[in-house]
Amino acid sequence: MCGIVGYIGGKSAGPILLECLRKLEYRGYDSAGIATIKGNEILVKKDVGKIDEIDKIHDLGSIKGNVGISHCRWATHGKVTKNNAHPHGNIKNTISIVHNGIIENYQEIKKKLKEKGYKFSSDTDTEVIAHLIDSFYSGSIKDAVLSAMGMLEGSYALAIICSDEPELLIAARNDSPLVLGIGNGENFISSDVYAIMGHTRKVMYLENKELAVLSKERIWIYNSGGKEIKKKLNTIEWDAKKAEKLGFDHFMLKEIFEQPDTIADTLDGKIGEDSISLDIGLTNSDIKKIKRIIIVACGTSWHAALTGEFMIEELAKIPVEVEYASEFRYRDPIIEEGTIVMAISQSGETADTLAAIREARKKKAMIVSIVNVEGSSIARESDVVIYTKVGPEIGVASTKAFTSQLVTLYLMTIHFGAVRGEIDEQQVRNRIRDIRLIPAQVRSILEEHGKIKKLAEVFFKKENTIYLGRGINFPIALEGALKLKEVSYIHAEGYPAAEMKHGPIALIDKNMPVVVIATQDTRTYKKVMNNIEEVKSRGGILIAIETKGDEETKKHVDHNLYVPRNSYILTPVLAVVPLQLFAYYMAVLRGCDVDKPRNLAKAVVVE
Ligand code: G6P
Repeated sequence: MCGIVGYIGGKSAGPILLECLRKLEYRGYDSAGIATIKGNEILVKKDVGKIDEIDKIHDLGSIKGNVGISHCRWATHGKVTKNNAHPHGNIKNTISIVHNGIIENYQEIKKKLKEKGYKFSSDTDTEVIAHLIDSFYSGSIKDAVLSAMGMLEGSYALAIICSDEPELLIAARNDSPLVLGIGNGENFISSDVYAIMGHTRKVMYLENKELAVLSKERIWIYNSGGKEIKKKLNTIEWDAKKAEKLGFDHFMLKEIFEQPDTIADTLDGKIGEDSISLDIGLTNSDIKKIKRIIIVACGTSWHAALTGEFMIEELAKIPVEVEYASEFRYRDPIIEEGTIVMAISQSGETADTLAAIREARKKKAMIVSIVNVEGSSIARESDVVIYTKVGPEIGVASTKAFTSQLVTLYLMTIHFGAVRGEIDEQQVRNRIRDIRLIPAQVRSILEEHGKIKKLAEVFFKKENTIYLGRGINFPIALEGALKLKEVSYIHAEGYPAAEMKHGPIALIDKNMPVVVIATQDTRTYKKVMNNIEEVKSRGGILIAIETKGDEETKKHVDHNLYVPRNSYILTPVLAVVPLQLFAYYMAVLRGCDVDKPRNLAKAVVVE
């Protein structure tokens, strides 16, 4: 995974690199490092640990020089050791590089370099790139990097400095995200736009196999053949404040509490009194021609996809299949005319989701994506993009992006259903009325956070939890369980409530908390009540998410959490919120680092 930042300008590079790198720490936090050029010398500071821990020991920002690179690591090749931490350099210490990605043929290249006498001090694929560039260097770092790129297979976003050309900073990419920031007398390289938003809003995106040479005043961009090319300048509109904690203890908590606003922002401009305007580039004729939708995603976004399947099939009557992106890409999927492939991704950079849409494109599918990060790779490689507009999501466990993905899927469903004649005008009006209630309803759930915290105080020492849901709330049971395991490291399983009888019921005893989504609806409520009895008769401890005003369920369970009443199809957007808060408080009580859970990364940009 990893995050990279580069700076060249008139200011001291150390504090800027450190500040920007902190914003990328969600991408990897097992080690970090920084390298600058001072005079004709490359200075390096790096170590294992989180950035703050390393900074305490090495005072990273005090490193001298006006040009530099920095890195936070999520280990792929080589253990978490100081030697494996980036930056890596050549033997003469004239070249220093940071890398995000995986070089697939690094063993092969390493062998050849060893034969030429190169010595390696780490187990990483990245160090191989540093020596490879060195082997091509004859006075131009740009040319040496271009030659090295010709040999590299795999994914990389690179930032490189060379003390023989101290006025330049090099960036190169293939299949890993990289953005160039254009400042006033200074320029930046970064893995994402948020990290540099405090310095500039003007950005350019590098495409695969492109290389950029940055000086403090200019940027030149070249294709793999070495030909100079021109790039479009983009202006980023996000509010930089959204990337701050604003008084909350953690980003995760802040992002959970932002949801009334982020959902409202997702709806903004897309709903009128009686119609939905999704100006997404799909004509009514395109929509009428859809025969099947395949949704590809990973993690929490995959849970949104499963919920979307219920919405779309039920209201728009289009057959939907949901696939793990990582499975879809390797199984030669059948894509006929009329199939659209939809990708859901917060980051827009998840490697498997990106590869899945590339596979779909090869098979001539139209690609529609629901993405949060503007200008991200998935957004740029899709035919149609709908942005969730929740601003930067920094907490590694996704929360506000998820609820806005659900809302976007809902809007898309109503739009498709109306265009295809499956939903009449009155129903569209009713559905719009329902969704308008959601921001205030989510706010009312958040007001109950004290009660949810108290509940966590009862359960935080448990080591297992089962989550049950049915119908459209089955994916929410999965999401509730995922949130808990991600941030609190408690083993949690999400199951369809009735399927519990075929296995998990064996786990239930007086020590097992069972969270049941038991919101009232005509279809599954009574069935869920039966499942509640099955748990109860085996001594399990029941926590139910219920509809406000439901007097019945509370008689059968041990603990109740309430969500307001809305239509069945929108209950997931409400039911997930208490589960997010429950996971958060459990993790805090267990002393876990909620924003940076062990072994996880926000954007999984490697396979
Ligand atoms: C990682 C994150 C999850 C996220 C998943 C998919 O595993 O930790 O929170 O749901 O990737 O990410 P995406 O950016 O594609 O939604």
